[in-house]
Amino acid sequence: MIVVAISGASGPIIGIRLIEELLNSKERVAAIVSQPAGQIIEYEMLFGKEPFSSLKALLEKRDIAKNIDLLSEYKNNDFFAPMASGSAEFEAMVVIPCSMKTLSAIVHGYADSLMNRACDVALKEKRRCIIVPRETPLSVIHTENLHKAALAGIEIVLPVPGFYTRPESLDDVIDFVVGKVLNLLGRKHNLFESWGKKKI
Ligand SMILES: Cc1cc2nc3c(=O)[nH]c(=O)nc-3n(C[C@H](O)[C@H](O)[C@H](O)COP(=O)(O)O)c2cc1C
Repeated sequence: MIVVAISGASGPIIGIRLIEELLNSKERVAAIVSQPAGQIIEYEMLFGKEPFSSLKALLEKRDIAKNIDLLSEYKNNDFFAPMASGSAEFEAMVVIPCSMKTLSAIVHGYADSLMNRACDVALKEKRRCIIVPRETPLSVIHTENLHKAALAGIEIVLPVPGFYTRPESLDDVIDFVVGKVLNLLGRKHNLFESWGKKKI
């Protein structure tokens, strides 16, 4: 099982695409959406026309993800959820996108929410912890926290496009970032062609 947390940074669509890809590959996913992330989903994806109710409802609406029954959703204040404990079996934790606030909480062990606690657990149990931090430009506080994250063994994937894949749409850019996370997780995907395969 992979835990996918969507925190309140711009680009919750990237986290949602990761969840869709994992479900399409028949992976079990446990998802956590922070309260600010829910508001940003409403703004960026639902254009303020309807409230965000649940990921399942959103995925059904997008009609891309299969195997939605493999998705479980947890509230970000639910410390009784399995991933709040090291005794729960999950392979990896991904925070995508990761806000600067959540980055700060993770690197300081400030486990005040389920997603922050699940990162805390992943790190203490020596499991994979991947973050996709989203902010620009970065202050020295942000870069110091990213340095702390790297020292703690957190893997960092920036949501920046590789222009060498010649993206033609925003979907291509999103898929490139999601593909980079799947590469780290050791999952096969067809989201972009690896270098050397593309005809010039
Ligand atoms: C539309 C919108 C976009 C935002 N984008 C970012 C962002 O890209 N990066 C960031 O660090 N914070 C961003 N924020 C601010 C965070 O949502 C805010 O700091 C929040 O407390 C993060 O909480 P969370 O990490 O617990 O979800 C954004 C807020 C809004 C309303």
